[in-house]
Amino acid sequence: MSTNKSNNKLRATITGVGMYAPEKILDNKTLEKLVDTNDEWIRTRTGIKERRILEDGATSDLGARAAQDLLEKHNVDPKDIDVIIVATVTPDYFFPSTSCLIQNKIGASNAWAFDLSAACSGFLFALQTGTSLIEAGRYKKVLVIGADKMSAIVDYTDRNTCILFGDAGSAVLLEPTEDESIGIKDSILNVDGSGFESLHMQAGGSARPASVETVQNKEHFIYQDGKAVFKVAVKGMADVSVEIMEKNNLKSEDIAYLVPHQANLRIIDATAKRMGLEPEKVTINIDRYGNTTAATIPLCITEYYRDGKIKKGDNLILAAFGAGYTWGSIYLTWGLD
Ligand code: COA
Repeated sequence: MSTNKSNNKLRATITGVGMYAPEKILDNKTLEKLVDTNDEWIRTRTGIKERRILEDGATSDLGARAAQDLLEKHNVDPKDIDVIIVATVTPDYFFPSTSCLIQNKIGASNAWAFDLSAACSGFLFALQTGTSLIEAGRYKKVLVIGADKMSAIVDYTDRNTCILFGDAGSAVLLEPTEDESIGIKDSILNVDGSGFESLHMQAGGSARPASVETVQNKEHFIYQDGKAVFKVAVKGMADVSVEIMEKNNLKSEDIAYLVPHQANLRIIDATAKRMGLEPEKVTINIDRYGNTTAATIPLCITEYYRDGKIKKGDNLILAAFGAGYTWGSIYLTWGLD
């Protein structure tokens, strides 16, 4: 743990990125054999062509591999990490937290760590939490990880949900900067707990502990009223993205990329349209990974940065909507060369 007693205003900026997507591909053609669906329906209704499945291991493996990728590529000693925040809804266990398992797997022996549960908005909530820890001046290296093994809670006999989700992990490193031109500049985060009914897992928690009955009733899988979620997600993600633009006097030409949560291409398109953004200013990889819940946004950031598309000085708007309901947006200026 490190401290910073300087009185200068600190800002948090992303100084490293990493990702891990398992090798095994589950494409639409294969899903056609499992449920009554077809490639054309899935592509046109969601934008998804294939997703990745983790065959051996758990969410902590996805997160640890993403973190290791980041540490190696950016030459960071794991012992220098102060805090690890893991956003996930598919923890390895109820306890201890997945962050504790990742801390051990990557050898970040000086870090304290905790999980954060905000479903598809998890990465944004975790990024803001990490930002606040940096801005407080107390910590110098905060690892923010989004990781979900969604295949662990997907019912592959339910065509409404099994086409949507995939497994992946991704990570960013936050560090302080006194350079006012870069870093995490603003966030708007929202919750409406009345949305619980439309998207949740029915059993396994203290409200309805696991039993023979809950297993037989398939209550340990994702339950989603897709139509209801679609409606509020379109409005929620677009509203909050426009709100953060207006709050920060940003015009569409000031924005290099919208980095949206990858749940459905139609939700993404509607958000970009409301923001006045051309399609080439929107990061997309839903076609290859599907909805990886907390991992989607850092996965997009990592791929676009490594492809040389996100450059120093670029203004990014991150936006997400998910179970809870939870939703929000974050405005940052990219500071990594
Ligand atoms: N293959 C073929 N047909 C399917 C299907 C599938 N995989 N899934 C559903 N259908 C059928 C439905 O049964 C329905 O048939 P019916 O009209 O005979 O009843 C028809 O397709 C339309 O279903 P509907 O649910 O209205 O489709 P949709 O256009 O809303 O798309 C989702 C469904 C799930 C893709 C969409 O609602 C969605 O993306 N919702 C939000 C997802 C989300 O953001 N979730 C997580 C928050 S992060």
